[in-house]
Amino acid sequence: MTSKIAVLPGDGIGPEVTAEAVKVLERLKRDFGLKIELETAPVGGAAYDLHKQPLPEGTLRLAKQADAVLLGAVGGLQYDDLPRELRPERALLGLRSELKLFANLRPAILFPQLASASTLKPEIVAGLDLLIVRELTGDIYFGEPRGVRTLENGEREGFNTMRYAEHEVERVSRVAFDAARKRQRRVCSVEKANVLETSGLWREVVLRVAKDYPDVALNHMYVDNAAMQLVRAPKQFDVIVTGNIFGDILSDEAAMLTGSIGMLPSASLDRANKGMYEPIHGSAPDIAGKGIANPLATILSTAMMLRYTLNEPTLADQVDGAVSKVLDQGIRTGDIYTEGTKRVGTQQMGDAVVAAL
Ligand code: IPM
Ligand code: MG
Repeated sequence: MTSKIAVLPGDGIGPEVTAEAVKVLERLKRDFGLKIELETAPVGGAAYDLHKQPLPEGTLRLAKQADAVLLGAVGGLQYDDLPRELRPERALLGLRSELKLFANLRPAILFPQLASASTLKPEIVAGLDLLIVRELTGDIYFGEPRGVRTLENGEREGFNTMRYAEHEVERVSRVAFDAARKRQRRVCSVEKANVLETSGLWREVVLRVAKDYPDVALNHMYVDNAAMQLVRAPKQFDVIVTGNIFGDILSDEAAMLTGSIGMLPSASLDRANKGMYEPIHGSAPDIAGKGIANPLATILSTAMMLRYTLNEPTLADQVDGAVSKVLDQGIRTGDIYTEGTKRVGTQQMGDAVVAAL
């Protein structure tokens, strides 16, 4: 069966890095028997420019039909003054909720070849390999009521609602426990149960789910402590499971532990493991169009796609292996360049990975 992949390059460096990931997929199709069909559509600011909408109907339809979505990045300074519902970020939130992508997997892995890139001491981060499982379709991001209202005294008040139903906590917890079984079998659930009712219920549900996973060790941590522990002793973590807003914040922190945000992929999955795959670095408008962006996070995102949606673990290993080989060869884009290595541009990096496959 041929799998359909929707390619949504988006804004900023999105198109540049996506092009390199597509090269990798095309090579796997041509020479390694991967049965895929690619179709491209505009998203984010690029879609707004064309259709006055960040997530046009045609793009959403394609994403829904597809087995997997490969997304570059969305956002740009020129869109920041648009009304909220027309901003590029809306496309991302719309795709997540329309495709019911409730489980966001964000690994933070320190490649041994890049150990010196971290701002933390090497002994703190060497060998770091943690996975954040972030709930992605609930919480204060989507909770109603929300808005800005005028109070009786004429002053305005902004409000959003943090809420989680039991089934939402249960399904994302299961993803985390299942992932832990393929790793070190440890889950840390992060919330703020000392203050928030939502978090109290979250903890209750996680404890209930844990009964089905007696082989996985579970602990609980308040989000403020987790933020501290991540920089104090990050290797204590295997899998972290947390809600949407806490996961947003902690995943940026975890990414920076590795010192190379240009290396980190992500997967957003639904109940049936259909997924949207994207680098976590965003659109980086400051370097867009210069041909210097690091395409490895997007290429590693295709490896996650091969693993989670396309059921091609061997090809996934092959892509991961090719990236590692290229790093061994000392080939570096500017963001991970250190003295004594060879600095290359986006396309050369993509070509090197294709050659290493
Ligand atoms: C992320 C981003 C998004 C989020 C923004 C761009 C809407 O920060 O994917 O982490 O907050 O989820
Ligand atoms: Mg974020």
